[in-house]
This record gives sequence, C-alpha cells and structure tokens, in this order.
Amino acid sequence: MNLDPFYDELEILLKSSLPLKLEGGSILDIGCGKGWLTRILYNNFYENAVIGIDKNRDNIDDCRINADNLPIKYKVLDMVDLTPDTFLNNYSFITCHNVLGYIPNPVEQLLKIYSWLQTDGLLSLVVRTPSGRFAEVYEQSKSPNLALKRYKDMRMNGSFKDEFEFYTLSDLISMIEVAGFSVLKIQGLYSLEKYLPTGYETFKNTFSVSNIDQYFYNWILCQK
Ligand SMILES: C[S@@+](CC[C@H](N)C(=O)[O-])C[C@H]1O[C@@H](n2cnc3c(N)ncnc32)[C@H](O)[C@@H]1O
Repeated sequence: MNLDPFYDELEILLKSSLPLKLEGGSILDIGCGKGWLTRILYNNFYENAVIGIDKNRDNIDDCRINADNLPIKYKVLDMVDLTPDTFLNNYSFITCHNVLGYIPNPVEQLLKIYSWLQTDGLLSLVVRTPSGRFAEVYEQSKSPNLALKRYKDMRMNGSFKDEFEFYTLSDLISMIEVAGFSVLKIQGLYSLEKYLPTGYETFKNTFSVSNIDQYFYNWILCQK
C-alpha cells in the first residue's frame, strides 16, 4: 500500500484545521510509528515540545534516526499500561492516528487521553473505516467472492478475527462522546478510488449493498 497520498492529504488537512500556536502545554503523539507526524508537528505547527510514544522499540529507534537533530522526545511506552494519572493535564494537543484499532477497549484509552489533555485541549484521531478494511481484504484476496465471504463473516461476527478492529463512524462518535469529548470536525481521507484504481468498480459493485462510504480513513478532531 502506497501511503504517500494519505500522508499528503493528512498534512494539508492538519495545516488547514489546526491553530498555529497553542497556549502552553506539550504535544503527544501516541503510536508514533516511524515519527512522520511528530516531525510534521514540530516543523509546522507549534513552538511547544513534542513527544512521541510507541510500544515498539524498533519504531522508536527509527524515529530517533529519522528526527536527526530535531529536539523531539521519543519513548517506548505501551499506552495500555498507562493510567489516567500518568500524564494528568499535561498536553494541549494529542494525536492518535491508526492506533485505536489495535487496542482492546478503545473507550478506556480515550478516557485516558481525555485526562491527559488540558482544559479545551485537542485530540486528532485517525481511524480506518470499515470500507477501508474491506478494500484491504479485497486487494489481498484479489477475489470479489472471497472478499464478500469475509465481509459477511465480519458482519456476522463483528470482526475479521484478526488483530485489527475497525469502527463505523457512528460507533466512533459515540465512543468519543462517552469519553467526554466534543467532536469538532470529521473528514474522510484517502478515497478508495485512489487506493483501488483498477478494482474499484468491481469493489463498488460487490459492496454496493453495504452502504459503503468512499474513504479509507476517517479523521476526527475532538476537544476536551
Ligand atoms: C498502523 S501504525 C500507525 C503509525 C502512525 N501513527 C501513522 O499513522 O502512520 C500503529 C502504531 O501504533 C503502535 N501501537 C499499537 N498499539 C500500541 C499501544 N498499545 N501503545 C503504543 N503504541 C501502540 C504500533 O507499534 C505502531 O507503530
């Protein structure tokens, strides 16, 4: 999967949607992967300190290499092991992109994030859409029939029974609100047409019964 168009779209969206300065408080990127977002945050938005955490030590090593001399802090931490008190009221802005789907009980994690934010603090969430997940299965299976079978299994069982969970937009919004946040903005990212240029028509026909939405990811900006 070529993620460049997704990252390009996300960068434009963040730049057009976020304030250039935050009053005090640092920025936390949860599940920072190889550090792309931490570098964007440091270079583009704020004068605040930026810290990235990830449970995978290799990723954090790569983050440090990729950051070169930028003063971004990185730590190996599994957010599941942290508590609401770990960073109580520490951050003015938290990003959590493509992570919630890998963690059981996302509401519990959202509650932690809520307590880590200062009053009025912002949370940027990116979560894969169900149709984005179907598109991935479709691409891997190269067979509309197999993809459809897995889709039906998913509808019956509530998941693909692999490590990744995905949530409909309405599920996500209710989890976000249960955790106490207000939703400020929602935007689909990375259209499936771009992702599946050759198989898109077949995919659309195959899943037309599923009320498919046309994006791979949802970006949701929330406020404490
Ligand atoms: C799909 S990658 C997303 C990386 C990056 N945020 C992005 O959007 O490109 C998911 C990342 O979340 C990390 N991760 C998964 N569960 C985590 C947890 N419980 N605590 C911290 N990091 C976690 C993984 O190690 C991985 O680097």
